[in-house]
Amino acid sequence: MTSSNMVSIIEDIVAAGKAYEGNRAGSRETLIDLSYALAGKLEIPSEFLQRTFWAEPAKSANCRTAVRLNIFQHLKDAGDEGLSDEDLAKKTGVGIDLHLLQRLMRHLAVFHVVSFTKGKWCATALSNGLAEQNYQRSIEFCYDSGMPSFYKFPEYFKNNGYNLPKSDTDGPFQYAHKSQISFFPWIEANPPNLANFATFMSAYRAGKPNWFDPGFYPVNERLIEGFDASYSEVLLVDVGGGRGHDMVHLSAQYPSLPGKLVLQDQEPVIASIGIQDPPFEAQVHDFYTPQPIKARAYALHSVLHDWGDEQGVQILENLKPALKTGYSRVLLFEIVVSEDQPSRAATTMDMQMLAHVSVGERTEKDWRDIIERRAGLKITNIYIYPGVAESLIEAELPGSGT
Ligand SMILES: C[S@@+](CC[C@H](N)C(=O)[O-])C[C@H]1O[C@@H](n2cnc3c(N)ncnc32)[C@H](O)[C@@H]1O
Repeated sequence: MTSSNMVSIIEDIVAAGKAYEGNRAGSRETLIDLSYALAGKLEIPSEFLQRTFWAEPAKSANCRTAVRLNIFQHLKDAGDEGLSDEDLAKKTGVGIDLHLLQRLMRHLAVFHVVSFTKGKWCATALSNGLAEQNYQRSIEFCYDSGMPSFYKFPEYFKNNGYNLPKSDTDGPFQYAHKSQISFFPWIEANPPNLANFATFMSAYRAGKPNWFDPGFYPVNERLIEGFDASYSEVLLVDVGGGRGHDMVHLSAQYPSLPGKLVLQDQEPVIASIGIQDPPFEAQVHDFYTPQPIKARAYALHSVLHDWGDEQGVQILENLKPALKTGYSRVLLFEIVVSEDQPSRAATTMDMQMLAHVSVGERTEKDWRDIIERRAGLKITNIYIYPGVAESLIEAELPGSGT
C-alpha cells in the first residue's frame, strides 16, 4: 500500500469521526468499515492467519465459555471495583483453574471485550451489553447452531461438487449437525435452539434503526393517512414476526396508531411471547396458507430471506388474496445486496443464511424477479437508511397507480 492510500483512509477516518461527533446517521458504521479497511491494508499475511484462524475463533469460544460461567454478569455486578482472578474464579462456582481463567480472560481483554486494570478484571460497555439475557442466548445460538456449519463449509462444498445446496434438508447445516431435517424443524426438535433463536432475532438488530423510525419509511404518509377502519380495523400484520419485538417498538414510536396490530408466527413462538399487555394481538398462522386477515399492511421482516425463491413466491402468493388494490401494502424489510459495493453486513448475512438455511440474500434484480415477475406484485419503492443493512421494499397489487 502506498502512503497516499494510507493518508486517504486516515483522512476519511478523520472526516467520519467528525460526522460521528455530530451524530450523523451512518457515521459510526462508516468508522467501523474504515477501521477494517485500515487493518486490511496494514496486516501482513502471517498476521492475517493469526487473526482469522486463531484469534477470532478463540474469541468466539471464550465468549461461549463466559456465557456458561456467567462471567459478563459477574463483572457487571462488580462495577468499577472489578474482580481479581481469585474472586472471579470463586464466582463461577465450577472450581476453574486460575491459570486457565486468566488465559481465557486475557484473550477477551486484548479484543476489548473486557478490561484489565490494576490487577482486576473489569466490565466494559460491550461486556455489560453482552451480559443481558438476549445477548447471552444469542451467543449460545450463534456458537452452537451456526458455527459448526461454517467449519464444515469446505468439506461440504467439496463433497457436493462445489454447487449451491439443492434443498434445505441437504445443506451445510445438515452436514455439520448430521441431520436430515431443515433448520426450523431442527431448532424446534433440539431445545433450547428455537427459544434461543427467537431471542436472537430480537437481539441481532438491536440498536439499529427500524424501518418505522423517522427518516426511514414514511409511516404517516404510507400507512396512517388513508387508513380505512371500515374496510378492516387492522393496520398492520407482522407476518412471521417472532415474539413481537418490532410491534412493541412500533407502538412505542407511534402510541396513537389508528388501527390494530396483529402478530403472526408458529405456535411454539406465539406460546413463548411472555410480554405483559402486548400492544398487538397474537395469532398462530402458517404463512404457507392463505392470509386470513385483511389489513392496511403486512410486514415481513427477515422472513423471505430464510427461504428459496420457490417458497418465497408461495409466501407472497398466500398474502395476495388478503390484499386490496390501491390500499394494502406489503412491506419487506430485507437486505438488498448491492452488486457493485456489497456491505460487510450484507455478505455476512448471506454467509449466515447459507450456513443455516441453504439460501442467500438477494440483489435488487433477484427481488424484482420473485416479487414482480413471479408473484405478480408491483414494487412501489425501496427505502434505505444510512448504515442500515436492510432496506424497506414496499410492494402492492398492480394497477393501483399509487
Ligand atoms: C428470521 S425470523 C424473523 C422474525 C422477525 N420477523 C424478526 O425480524 O425478528 C423468521 C420467523 O419466521 C417464523 N416462521 C418460520 N416458518 C413459519 C411458518 N411456516 N409460518 C409462520 N411463521 C414461520 C419463525 O418462527 C421466525 O419467527
